[in-house]
Amino acid sequence: MSHSTPEANSKAKNIIWHHASVNRQERAAKLGHKSAILWFTGLSGSGKSTVANAVNLALFEKGIASYVLDGDNIRHGLCKDLGFSDLDREENIRRIGEVAKLFLDAGIIVLTAFVSPFRADREKARSLVKKQEFFEIYCAADLETCEKRDPKGLYAKARTGEIKDFTGISSPYEEPLKPEIALNTGTQQLHNCVEFVLDNLKTNQVIS
Ligand code: ADX
Repeated sequence: MSHSTPEANSKAKNIIWHHASVNRQERAAKLGHKSAILWFTGLSGSGKSTVANAVNLALFEKGIASYVLDGDNIRHGLCKDLGFSDLDREENIRRIGEVAKLFLDAGIIVLTAFVSPFRADREKARSLVKKQEFFEIYCAADLETCEKRDPKGLYAKARTGEIKDFTGISSPYEEPLKPEIALNTGTQQLHNCVEFVLDNLKTNQVIS
């Protein structure tokens, strides 16, 4: 990444890529692990943030550099100008894809927890990095389960129409067709989900 010049496809002209003084390989050698993007997707209430944070804690305890980008939190800052129209969600995911790529370059395992309901948007995020660097993790709790949990009371509001364009109710969710990892977050225990993700990272030699 840091030794090639990315294709310029920017509005701004006359911008020249500055090569970094530390590259990915050097960072990985120093940190003792590779970096990766763990892209959690699923309905609101499916457990994305919970599992991502639990994996993050497990990695932290192993001395691995990791960080969670969480939809609700990022919408308080970087993406606070965006709502929930299809176009705003597309822009939300575009920004997160780019931010996740920066974390990847910084040598960090970045866990993104966004509904990211549209396949095309997730595929764009995937296309920014190499195949072995992107793990789509589908939190496959079904609508009925998520609605029953309703941890933030949002489904109830979506049903009455108080919240418009709500994923699963009045806005679509396109489930992943070939996720690297699928978790039955509706039925599986949290610690099993965490172990499954960590085992996958080991098998793929991201961590040892
Ligand atoms: S995304 O669709 O653009 O990926 P994102 O993950 O950032 O969504 O934000 C989803 C979170 O915002 C949900 O977990 C929920 O708490 C809250 N939320 C508020 N309104 C909506 C809505 N209309 N659809 C989905 N989530 C919503």
